[in-house]
Amino acid sequence: MRMKAAVLHQQGLPRPYVETKPLVIEEVELDPPGPGEVLIEIAAAGLCHSDLSTIENLRPRPMPIIIGHEGAGVIRETGPDVHGLQKGDHVVCLFVASCGDCRPCRKGRPNICEGGFAARAAGTLPSGAKRLKLNGEFIHHNSGLSLFAQYAVVDQSALVKIPKDVPLADAALFGCAVMTGAGAVLNTAGLRAGEEIGVVGLGGVGMSALLAAVAAGASRVVAVDMNPAKLELARQWGATHAFDARDPDCAAKVREATSGGLDTVIETAGAIPALQLAYAIAARGGEVITAGLPHVNSAFPLPAFNMVSEEKAVRGSYMGSCVPTRDIPKLLGMYRRGTLPVTRLQSGTIALEEINAGFDRLAAGETLRQMLLPNG
Ligand SMILES: NC(=O)c1ccc[n+]([C@@H]2O[C@H](COP(=O)([O-])OP(=O)(O)OC[C@H]3O[C@@H](n4cnc5c(N)ncnc54)[C@H](O)[C@@H]3O)[C@@H](O)[C@H]2O)c1
Ligand SMILES: [Zn+2]
Ligand SMILES: [Zn+2]
Repeated sequence: MRMKAAVLHQQGLPRPYVETKPLVIEEVELDPPGPGEVLIEIAAAGLCHSDLSTIENLRPRPMPIIIGHEGAGVIRETGPDVHGLQKGDHVVCLFVASCGDCRPCRKGRPNICEGGFAARAAGTLPSGAKRLKLNGEFIHHNSGLSLFAQYAVVDQSALVKIPKDVPLADAALFGCAVMTGAGAVLNTAGLRAGEEIGVVGLGGVGMSALLAAVAAGASRVVAVDMNPAKLELARQWGATHAFDARDPDCAAKVREATSGGLDTVIETAGAIPALQLAYAIAARGGEVITAGLPHVNSAFPLPAFNMVSEEKAVRGSYMGSCVPTRDIPKLLGMYRRGTLPVTRLQSGTIALEEINAGFDRLAAGETLRQMLLPNG
């Protein structure tokens, strides 16, 4: 079938993107789903900083490619050997497909499945196939999804079926921002009621972490960002304290306000200075959970002596350490009860033709989640 999609031909073009147009709206050919694959019509796809990082060339990818990895839609066709999913089902897309058989999958950690990562680097679906063609030539899939398009063919393990009464633009958020941010708090950190937490970086992911921390009954939620408007929003949404990361005394002020720092600090900015700040505001015996993704080659110098003498820890969190078939229904349950009000993360809707402007706004730090509606 033919469809409209936003194709990235070249990474690293300068801003403003409304002028350099890294994403080009083109007519793309989409092959039918193969074994274990499903065709979905994409209802909504969020603009995530990880997509921006791909446009910026912080993560080299094979070109041309269709990016977009946070979304939800409706199944229009199933290939052979698809189980438990059928035409008409509503689904949330997962940016890590899982094989069920590799070492992490066997340990109950499908979010770090080895198969998914190999396919991602090659720009294919998990089967190794490519289903996207531009002018008769194959182009690449991103994270096995490629959601900045009207339709996508994806592996069945990259989908979680959801109830039909959940608005699909809200459902889309669960595919990345909510799983990543709320998962970092509830799974990776295992936050319990009465505990305290800090969040450094208040984008779609960080604000999801903040909402989950409030929902879980944290006694103290410290929000840190460089954008005063986001600090104000964080206060309104339940942060007990908010600090400006641009203040050179930020770490000292957080430590003073929290009697020596926080037991858990979630880093959701994707910048080394933010990670250093997160480490600095973690208390003696505290832990930094980092979910931000800076340049693929960037390094974080760990203060080796201090880490030992204060028994501090730093741990990564990918896709919120989620087991999606367990956690998406759980997080949706919180959303339906009103304790995880993620609709507020939406910063309006955009059409495919407005996508470059959308990434300019995300790069300027002005938005949380702009929702692309590729089918209007
Ligand atoms: N681990 C995962 O599975 C996963 C999933 C999705 C996104 N990510 C990554 O998480 C990060 C956040 O994504 P997002 O879409 O929420 O981004 P975003 O651009 O919406 O938000 C990032 C926020 O960090 C703030 N920030 C930047 N530098 C800072 C600093 N030094 N100190 C404090 N705050 C700072 C910005 O002002 C902004 O509000 C990105 O790096 C993204 O690639 C990781
Ligand atoms: Zn994302
Ligand atoms: Zn696996």
